[in-house]
Amino acid sequence: MTQNLRKILVTSALPYANGPIHLGHLVEYIQTDIWVRFQRLRGHSCTYVCADDAHGTPIMLRAQGEGIEPEELIARISAEHQADFQGFDIGFDNYYSTHSDENQHFASLVYIRLRDAGHIAKRTITQAYDPEKEMFLPDRFIRGCCPKCGAEDQYGDSCEMCGATYNPTDLVNPVSAISGATPIEKDSEHYFFKLGDFEQMLKGWISESKVQNGIASKLNEWFESGLNDWDISRDAPYFGFEIPDAPGKYFYVWLDAPIGYMASFQNLCDRTEGLEFDDYWGADSSAEVYHFIGKDIAYFHTLFWPAMLEGAGFRKPNGVYCHGFLTVNGQKMSKSRGTFVMASTYLKHLNPEYLRYYFAAKLGNGIDDLDLNFDDFMQRVNSDLVGKVVNIASRCAGFIKKRFDNKLAPALSEADLYQDFVKVGETIANHYEQREFGHAMRAIMALADRANQYIDEQKPWVIAKEEGKDQELHDICSMGINLFRLLMSYLKPVLPVMAEEVERFLNIEALEWQGDIKPLLNHTVNKFKPLMQRVEQSSIDAITADSTQTLSEAQPKTTKKPQKVKGGNGDEIAATIEFDDFAKVDLRIVEIVKAEHVEGADKLLRLELDLGDDKRQVFAGIKSAYPPEELVGRLTVMVANLAPRKMRFGVSEGMVLAAGPGGEDIFILSPDSGAQAGMRVK
Ligand code: 2FM
Ligand code: ZN
Repeated sequence: MTQNLRKILVTSALPYANGPIHLGHLVEYIQTDIWVRFQRLRGHSCTYVCADDAHGTPIMLRAQGEGIEPEELIARISAEHQADFQGFDIGFDNYYSTHSDENQHFASLVYIRLRDAGHIAKRTITQAYDPEKEMFLPDRFIRGCCPKCGAEDQYGDSCEMCGATYNPTDLVNPVSAISGATPIEKDSEHYFFKLGDFEQMLKGWISESKVQNGIASKLNEWFESGLNDWDISRDAPYFGFEIPDAPGKYFYVWLDAPIGYMASFQNLCDRTEGLEFDDYWGADSSAEVYHFIGKDIAYFHTLFWPAMLEGAGFRKPNGVYCHGFLTVNGQKMSKSRGTFVMASTYLKHLNPEYLRYYFAAKLGNGIDDLDLNFDDFMQRVNSDLVGKVVNIASRCAGFIKKRFDNKLAPALSEADLYQDFVKVGETIANHYEQREFGHAMRAIMALADRANQYIDEQKPWVIAKEEGKDQELHDICSMGINLFRLLMSYLKPVLPVMAEEVERFLNIEALEWQGDIKPLLNHTVNKFKPLMQRVEQSSIDAITADSTQTLSEAQPKTTKKPQKVKGGNGDEIAATIEFDDFAKVDLRIVEIVKAEHVEGADKLLRLELDLGDDKRQVFAGIKSAYPPEELVGRLTVMVANLAPRKMRFGVSEGMVLAAGPGGEDIFILSPDSGAQAGMRVK
């Protein structure tokens, strides 16, 4: 087969440098990585770049909160992100940062070209300003009563109670979420990108790039409601790049974020012989560029980004591929349910290739949300990978070793069956190309079923006991190993680590997938070692336990004033409460009558508490601070009327109160002497 070799550049969205990578992020990186590995396996040149998205107000404020420079924060988070990505075998060619010289260069270049071509407008706008903190407040950092329904403590742009959207200046009794001060209104000159200049171009580009259906209808809505100018400037203090002709004004983080794709690529070009920036980004480039993103950031990538590229004289992407969000066990990821799982937590307990396979099995090329159901996950990995694929090799390898000195037969007795497997390979390749990974996995598993069926019918374990059937046994097992090899070539984009182990077992350079794959004949393989363990329920329980956040862990560590802000992960940090709310909390003195470790949980202890008139079981995240035996017999304070919460290992019927920064420094609250179990705390 002759192939036209393609030059492809692929990106995933740049994660913000203010929070850890979690399983929700990984849908995209795994999806992109599988596609990239597929392209490389087929012989194409496919470069995959990414970076941390390092600018903006939340990152600036978080660094201030930690008492460090933003540069220190983003360096630390970048190292964590890269370790997580490496753990999941995401094969970036370059992982960079938007806070880089290259990015400053390209952000300024794009801006200057847009400005000189007349696509930038300036005008003065009025915004909320925190007089105490002396900074303009992004909408999300203002809270107040909803102007429509009166709900308290709503964000500056929308109400979570009634769904109304509005301007922050419309909020009733607004306060700054940073200082607690009442914001004032202040004027400032802002810079705008005139998106409307590009409407015709965008309509044409979108039709050529054949965006996904769900996105196309969104785009139509956006066109119908009109393309507004986009505010690309922010006032100091801001962590970002200063606008070249505007001291004290900075590029909004979303202006330089996608330009970070170019910057990361440029940085790679600078240290890679033969890789030229202009070959990929020049206006007449024949290379292909694809962006993989979540559907929530389609506006930026299908409108602003191609318009910026066009206006600045660069090429536009060939495709922007959106995916849906991840739910876990059918619901939004939740810290209290233990389903907000960090990449690093998963890696402590489970093989990353399980998740790569599971996501592949569930991914299509649309924008539907994807559910990670842990029962289904365990069942599918165990049945497909261990029960079907690995099983083929383990059923045949023993005979090849014992009876044939690890050497495969000189010819295939069932050449047609082998050729069928080769032919289906093209269908599978097509599914991968179209990002229909679920279809690809189903086609591969159907082949695995056929291979197992072949072995079932041939019964090598029976033939092995019969006299004079050596050649037949050799043929069957060699056939099985060759079918297994084809399946592993098809699975290599999804399971790169297992594929390497299979290469060692098969004693071959690399599993290939270009043109027809010829069978291994007269070839000596190595000793077969188990390739993949089954997923155990205890590992899943341990992940849930490690991901279950307790009240004490949910408290901010460096909050000077009461505030309620949304973190990058969407979790809320509590605001002030009224006395009536406080009075609802039933605090009791209790005696810890039993304390013990919870199997599979890194942080939790199981406590039995005596309330005087009642006994309760509570799971408390205090294992790092207390050996259980030290707790028995002590009095502490508990919240007795907290709704029971079902956890993997039992129901938690309340909460003991503890304070401290964490780790060994967690202190359960102990009452003064004279207190007795059962007393109410007033
Ligand atoms: O939504 C986000 O997480 C952004 N940090 C994605 C940026 S993608 C690209 F434009 F940089
Ligand atoms: Zn409302």
